[in-house]
Amino acid sequence: MYESYYGFNERPFSLLPDPDFLYLSKSHETALTLLEYGFMSQAGFTVITGEIGSGKTTLSRHILNRMGDEVTIGLITNAQKSFGELLQWVLLAFGLDYKNKTKVELYQAFNEFLIDEYSKNHRTVLMIDEAQNLSVETMEELRMLSNINADKHQVLQMVLLGQPELRTLLRRPELEQFSQRISVDFHLRRLDEEETKAYIKHRLSVVGGNPDLFDDEACEAAFMLSHGTPRIINRVCDLALVYGFAEEKQQITAEIMLEVTMDKAEVESAATPRLGLAEHPVETKEQAVNETAQRGVGEAVAQVQKELQSQLGHAIDRLRKMKLPRF
Ligand SMILES: Nc1ncnc2c1ncn2[C@@H]1O[C@H](COP(=O)(O)OP(=O)(O)OP(=O)(O)O)[C@@H](O)[C@H]1O
Ligand SMILES: [Mg+2]
Repeated sequence: MYESYYGFNERPFSLLPDPDFLYLSKSHETALTLLEYGFMSQAGFTVITGEIGSGKTTLSRHILNRMGDEVTIGLITNAQKSFGELLQWVLLAFGLDYKNKTKVELYQAFNEFLIDEYSKNHRTVLMIDEAQNLSVETMEELRMLSNINADKHQVLQMVLLGQPELRTLLRRPELEQFSQRISVDFHLRRLDEEETKAYIKHRLSVVGGNPDLFDDEACEAAFMLSHGTPRIINRVCDLALVYGFAEEKQQITAEIMLEVTMDKAEVESAATPRLGLAEHPVETKEQAVNETAQRGVGEAVAQVQKELQSQLGHAIDRLRKMKLPRF
């Protein structure tokens, strides 16, 4: 839609967890380092939690792409409470045949696979996304699986990624044995204001666009609306681009963010004029004509620009005072 207008080779703010767009905020970078450390130190369990939309799945995809041959990773993307036969999911995650096997045969097949990988000097990691959905029973089964050994070495490492409820789950007394095996534990934080700005610029650069397309105030507005949650930043910025394109704007400003916000909040523009911009141009034009006569065109144009700029600056003040909608 707006891609060619803004010179993008694809949409910069898609909601997909595409690792090509990964921006390493301080917190994302720490999570990544800890995950890698977990792999290398043979940590039994690594737990990474984060708020909804904070980038857990994106990180897992990044790791999957980045790991070399020395690490074999199986990924379960859609952990559920009622897994049925957990082992079938585990075998599927590693691309192993899981059909028409009894529980014993499944266990046997997985055991052989782990020992085989170990003999090739490969680390084997089972990564489970959305782990907040797991039941206590499934957690216990995972713990049992992690007990498989070869030459006294733990041959299976596990990474659990999940929303904050995962933490609540892990605090349950029935899971104390499990919790004691967690070697690496980290909570992914939201982006701060500076990181939000850098994140927006980063995603614009990845698609070949102008990294400064969103001006500073627009970035500030994106932070106010999203509290630094990447998925919400994407939503807000994507909408702002649609508005910017529709209005043929070369720059995404706080004014556009305000429009997006007000529409979302269903504030009636007739009752509350959006920025007062619609009322001002005539006045401003008249002023310009008068001043042209007195002070010359250049100066008057500069004056108009200054006034327009100050009106745009008010957008961010308006946003500050608004009860912001949820995106
Ligand atoms: N560090 C990041 N760099 C680039 N994009 C990110 C980053 N973190 C999140 N995103 C983007 O934000 C959106 C949500 O990310 P993701 O799906 O990874 O979040 P999540 O934590 O797995 O969410 P959920 O709790 O719903 O599973 C995606 O569009 C993703 O590309
Ligand atoms: Mg996710």
